[in-house]
Amino acid sequence: MTMRQRPVVPALTFGNGVNLVNLFELEELARKKMPPPVWDYFAGGAEDEITLAENHRAFQRVKLRPRLGVDVSKRDLSTQLFGQEISLPVLLAPTSYQKLAHPEGELAVARAAAEVGTIVVLGTGNYYSVDEVAAASSGPRWFQMYCFNNHEVTEKAIRRAEAAGCSALVVTIDGSDRRRFERLMRRPLVVSPQLGLSNLVGLGLDDTLLEKEDGINKWLSTLVKLDLTWDDIAWVKSVARVPVVLKGIITPQDALKAVEYGVDGIIVSNHGARQVDGTLTSIEALPEIAEAVDGKIEILLDSGVRRGTDVLKALALGAKAVLVGRPLLWGLAVGGADGVQRMLEMLREELDCAMAQTGQTDVKKVSRSLVTIRKY
Ligand SMILES: Cc1cc2nc3c(=O)[nH]c(=O)nc-3n(C[C@H](O)[C@H](O)[C@H](O)COP(=O)(O)O)c2cc1C
Repeated sequence: MTMRQRPVVPALTFGNGVNLVNLFELEELARKKMPPPVWDYFAGGAEDEITLAENHRAFQRVKLRPRLGVDVSKRDLSTQLFGQEISLPVLLAPTSYQKLAHPEGELAVARAAAEVGTIVVLGTGNYYSVDEVAAASSGPRWFQMYCFNNHEVTEKAIRRAEAAGCSALVVTIDGSDRRRFERLMRRPLVVSPQLGLSNLVGLGLDDTLLEKEDGINKWLSTLVKLDLTWDDIAWVKSVARVPVVLKGIITPQDALKAVEYGVDGIIVSNHGARQVDGTLTSIEALPEIAEAVDGKIEILLDSGVRRGTDVLKALALGAKAVLVGRPLLWGLAVGGADGVQRMLEMLREELDCAMAQTGQTDVKKVSRSLVTIRKY
């Protein structure tokens, strides 16, 4: 950032007089505020949670190589995605059931993103619909969707999102109805179906399922296309009037398929380790994906980003920007929109500090030579 753009709110001071130094302290505070089953739903991962533990830890194997003697008195943290200017290269990832963290749920998250000047990715599994979010915030927004069994329904969902000002579609392709979330198998989270289906109401589906306790699972399992192939992606791309981004790419082979099928971007992601345990972490997968893609489409990354230095390392290894998932839920639980905003400001402050210390003046110019990867 240039010095003039420094945030007005002190980056490390949270609401209610609480001073938090980093996202890990925010996580701890959020954990104390949430009922255990809700915490398990937000925090948990697949099976033994090995990938979950590794997602952040893997960033520690990427080592920064600071360059000295560079005038870093002015730093620019802004970048552009599909022509949209954002003030820092951190977006808010789609996460379902945000209302469990705070009554204002997605409305608060969208307001925080607008305040900070970044993009919020609204989810299919949200309480507030894209129209309600559009009425509450004028900030930039994308829409996360699945490829549904029924093309007519999928197209209606796309049109609704576009009409509500969503400037890109994020198609999640690593979703499955067969995940083993053992925390929830031990201590199930029972939620009202209304909590996460607003974006599906009115698309011609059986809305009476909303009244049933397991309606949400029935709806999603009958809807989400489990026999998804690249032809479905080609179909989404042919229907969409805004850029299409695929979420859940973790191998260079699939990244190349994404290029071949003409999508506009990918999110290197293991879904925050919530789908299958034992996968590569995103930051491990990124270098070979970036090499394969070779600048042909935009690359973003999520899963395990918790520090400004994590953001910087991802940029150096070929991502244009990153997304955070759980941290937004922590900020939301602790302080609503203000909490999410302060979480982002903490990341901004850390990224700015890391840039100043490593001789970087512009997030758009961070190069591969800034890092080395230690093998151990
Ligand atoms: C509680 C929760 C719900 C999520 N729901 C969705 C979802 O509905 N669709 C989706 O594509 N990703 C979903 N994700 C994955 C996030 O978009 C993102 O990939 C992940 O959280 C990034 O990892 P991080 O939490 O370590 O930052 C969810 C993640 C969490 C924690």
